[in-house]
Amino acid sequence: NLNTLVDSYGRKIRKLRISLTDKCNLRCHYCMPLDATFMDEQRYLSVDEYAQVVEDLCKFGLEEVRITGGEPLLRKSFKSLVEKIGSLPLKKIGLTTNAVLLHKYIEDLCEYRVHHINISLDSLNEDRFNKITRSKNFKKVLENISLAKSAGLNIKINTVLMKGVNDDEIFDFIEFSRELEIPIRFLEFMRIGHGRQEQEDQFISAPEIIKNIKKKYEMNLISSEIDSTSVNYRLCNGAEIGFIASESMPFCGHCSRWRLSCDGIIKACLLKSEGLSIKGLESKEREEVYYELLGMKPFLRPKEVSHQMNSIGG
Ligand code: GTP
Ligand code: 5AD
Ligand code: SF4
Repeated sequence: NLNTLVDSYGRKIRKLRISLTDKCNLRCHYCMPLDATFMDEQRYLSVDEYAQVVEDLCKFGLEEVRITGGEPLLRKSFKSLVEKIGSLPLKKIGLTTNAVLLHKYIEDLCEYRVHHINISLDSLNEDRFNKITRSKNFKKVLENISLAKSAGLNIKINTVLMKGVNDDEIFDFIEFSRELEIPIRFLEFMRIGHGRQEQEDQFISAPEIIKNIKKKYEMNLISSEIDSTSVNYRLCNGAEIGFIASESMPFCGHCSRWRLSCDGIIKACLLKSEGLSIKGLESKEREEVYYELLGMKPFLRPKEVSHQMNSIGG
């Protein structure tokens, strides 16, 4: 059924993640090798090409866009892109960023309705953060989180938990979240791309963490949208925390997401390498692509994935 983009399992495509670049100004060791190579910028979609796809999909029921990367704030045309996307009939526009450059765009984000900012933060310890990200941006990121919060943007923190790397900080993160009144979501380390090797040794499951937290805090489930990536709780100390348990509790059955890469390939699934290109297509041809994509989202979670996280935008 193309009118509302519902697949044969009843999953409606309601959200589109658009990646603006595969480049990043950090080198988180689980995501990218130090010598990562990137695509030729000549292949990038233009602002109008992104807008065209979003406009098409809005007619078929798209409600949300989340802007991703690599690091989306590296894209030179970021401002004109959000200006354009912000004018389309979407209910919600989000941005997933490492926040290193966030201070430059706070006003644009507020003005162009990009109000839902998810920020990656894997450690509250400066040395550790810098080691994980292979950079020296800890202070800047913390500063920018506060700046964005003060500007009234809806911020959430994403933290990938890794055994022996940052799993001793869970209670510090909870305290951080409570103090700043910023919800935090703990991500299971996914077996994807560059992280595949480390993942074996460093994986911690969400149920394990929940068991641990319950020793200290009472946890009350908060109701979330059915297609939410996270299961969310309010703790008795007031903190709001969530878990994105892609490995131990896959959420494919309610998946409502497609992904548009910076070179114009739409993918029906984060974990599948196949996708279809819309680059240079006429309106009628694009519709055929959308129709075909409806049959490309797996119902059961694919196991092992070789493509790189930064090229698909998480
Ligand atoms: P909101 O619900 O709008 O706050 O955002 P989100 O959780 O969908 O997006 P975000 O970019 O913050 O992603 C958080 C984590 O969830 C990332 O590691 C993504 O890779 C992962 N994620 C997002 N969508 C999917 C999905 O469809 N499948 C899987 N397996 N993981 C996903
Ligand atoms: N497993 C889990 N999360 C990952 N991210 C990147 N690679 C992985 C992985 N292998 C996270 C980033 C960011 C989000 C978009 O995806 O840390 O918070
Ligand atoms: Fe959706 Fe694929 Fe993720 Fe499952 S693995 S939730 S189908 S994107």
